[in-house]
Amino acid sequence: MAFPPAFIDELVARNPIEDVVGQYVSLKRSGSNLFGLCPFHGEKTASFSVSPDKGIYYCFGCHKGGSVINFMMEIENLSYPDAIRSLAKRVGMEVPEDEQYQSRYHQQERLWALHKEAARYFHSQLYAPVGAEALKYAMGRGMPKSTLTTFGIGYAPDDWTGMVDAMRKKGYTDQELKDSGLVTVSQKNGRLFDRFRDRLMFPIIDVRGNVIGFGGRIMNNKDKEAAKYLNSPETLIFNKRKNLFALNLAKKSKLGYLILVEGYMDAIALHQYGFDCAVASLGTALTEDGTNLLSKYTEQVVLIYDGDEAGQNATKRAIPILEKAGLQVKILRMRDAKDPDEFLKKFGADKFKLLLEESSNRVEYQLNAIYKKYDLQNDEDKVKYLQESANLISGLSSAVQREVYGNRVADAAKISYEAMKLEIEKALKRRLYQQKKKQEKIDLAPAQNLQPKTRSFHYKNMKSAMAEETVLAMVLKQPALFDQAENLTAEIFSAPILGRAYEQLKNRYTMGLEVQPGALTDFTSEEMAHIAGIMQRHTGPLNEEAFRDCVHTICAEHQAESVSSDNDLLMFQSKLKERKGFKG
Ligand code: UTP
Ligand code: MN
Repeated sequence: MAFPPAFIDELVARNPIEDVVGQYVSLKRSGSNLFGLCPFHGEKTASFSVSPDKGIYYCFGCHKGGSVINFMMEIENLSYPDAIRSLAKRVGMEVPEDEQYQSRYHQQERLWALHKEAARYFHSQLYAPVGAEALKYAMGRGMPKSTLTTFGIGYAPDDWTGMVDAMRKKGYTDQELKDSGLVTVSQKNGRLFDRFRDRLMFPIIDVRGNVIGFGGRIMNNKDKEAAKYLNSPETLIFNKRKNLFALNLAKKSKLGYLILVEGYMDAIALHQYGFDCAVASLGTALTEDGTNLLSKYTEQVVLIYDGDEAGQNATKRAIPILEKAGLQVKILRMRDAKDPDEFLKKFGADKFKLLLEESSNRVEYQLNAIYKKYDLQNDEDKVKYLQESANLISGLSSAVQREVYGNRVADAAKISYEAMKLEIEKALKRRLYQQKKKQEKIDLAPAQNLQPKTRSFHYKNMKSAMAEETVLAMVLKQPALFDQAENLTAEIFSAPILGRAYEQLKNRYTMGLEVQPGALTDFTSEEMAHIAGIMQRHTGPLNEEAFRDCVHTICAEHQAESVSSDNDLLMFQSKLKERKGFKG
């Protein structure tokens, strides 16, 4: 994906990072940096920084970071070339397209268009004679025409090639149909058939409004063998884990939180009853990707999974993932109904609102889960219940919270609060002791603190790596320093990622191009964030002497390592000889 380097320089120069980020985050100046609330994780105090001089953003909280190009990729969910394209459009620049990119983008555009046409086709079938039964079914499930229109719901007729034929007529090739995942290919003769047959169709629409896939529900559970819901497979434009059903609508909600449910029908029912902030996962467990997407639009998520065991297990797994992304999580436990769709139809919106208001935070939910595990009539169980609860409560940072929940547990077990308090204090002491031991371990191994957050960048030679970080940060500030280190090459670096960055930048310097982080190509977003972190943390003096010292350290460490591996080799060879001699 090679764009001309000079084009990238102009693009970055004409899109000052503070302007671009400023369109999404309100920034306040503090010294040479600007600070704001991080758009990538929920937070109340600003740890998201933008450095106009360095051309980077970096969040000290969630460690996301990079150039203006990375920012666009991250915030708009764009690929590298699409981020370039959107920045170019922003300032009216022409994009010199390379062929490979153009063909991939063209392929995506064709797939989006094909999906839109397919959605139109399915929707029209719902109102055609073949769709009569499906329409009746949809209406029977309480979806008025307005809902069918808002969600673009359709019907895939019980026909082997209905959709295939309609799309061919619109000019889509067989290859495009195969790429769309909307067909199956006969093993015998290679002919194409509709993947979705006799199913109610739910288009999946991304946040930019493109139809990217479908979920299809079997009608009336007719065929007991077939899956109830069939979803599009992963394609060039569809990634189940990175998209959520109805987020295109929910992102506009004024309610200030998002509701995450399991099923398409649940999300639709919630919208219908006024909870227009509902989204559904796409038949997969919630992942970090899905959570990152959520955290772009809200700080608070209400989790409503089905009341069955599978749903409760999914809830347990989802809580830490959501909390890790800085989201506030509330859990609503379904009662007297299998899922939100059923609940709303049985009891209506007002009752649901009550549930929502009662929906508990994580602590209540977890205390409740412990409560359910034990039989409090049994003394042994009772002790376990109290200990486990005390342990959970001891982890709360506020004394008020500890007292409130401590009281509640004491009441439930019919013991005095004093006794419970002692138990919590014991657990707290244990916790503090463990923390202290952990801290001691960290203090004893200070080098460990300097290790990158991402495991795959683990530094093998800490001394060299620290010098390499400094060298990289310095040349980015003052490229003329490259002249002071003619012999420094990527191979001499102990950390491959730093060596690669150094070399790319040095090549640019030699060619008279800008030395700026936005010019780094073929670095993953984690790698870019790592580099942005180095740049943002580097505050040391910028002088030739310090620079040369670092270069010296890198070379010396490299030398020492190669000598020791040479020694290994020599030793190995002499051992080999010894053995041969022994035999002979
Ligand atoms: P459910 O089985 O709970 O269905 O699946 P539902 O949402 O209540 O649907 P209705 O009310 O019977 O129509 C929940 C979600 O799990 C995924 C779908 O995304 C579905 O919405 N799923 C379920 C599948 O992907 N495949 C299946 O076979 C079943
Ligand atoms: Mn349901």
